Amino acid sequence: VLVTLGLFLASPVNAAGDAKAGRQKALMCQGCHGLDGLSKQPDAPHIAGQPVLYFVKAINEYKAKSRRHEQMSIVAESLSEADIADLAAYYGAITVSVELPAR
Ligand code: HEC
Repeated sequence: VLVTLGLFLASPVNAAGDAKAGRQKALMCQGCHGLDGLSKQPDAPHIAGQPVLYFVKAINEYKAKSRRHEQMSIVAESLSEADIADLAAYYGAITVSVELPAR
């Protein structure tokens, strides 16, 4: 699978979140999800280009502990609503293109 990325920091996808601020906040996510949103750990998902609604929902589920994961719950606890919106805007603004397997 070939994945290419482009970052469009000037145009946040969600008016509620600031992608530029999100890029700074993503420094605490990069060890696992990368600053490019591509997983850096075998057990971590890619989050590049993730729909903003889904992203916010997922983080809030870790916060509420209705979705449980040791590391993500700790991370989510430290995030404010604005942090979550900014991070969602940043990761959501990463464009991903994919190539299907030849057969
Ligand atoms: C120590 C590693 C680690 C760090 C740091 C980390 N994550 Fe995660 N993240 C994970 C793992 C592992 C999962 C999958 C957890 C599960 O099974 O539910 C995950 C899941 C997620 C998901 C859900 C993805 C999906 O497809 O459902 C989101 C969104 C997410 N992380 C965002 C973040 C953000 C934003 C940060 C930084 C503020 C962050 N993560 C920091 C390891 C990490």
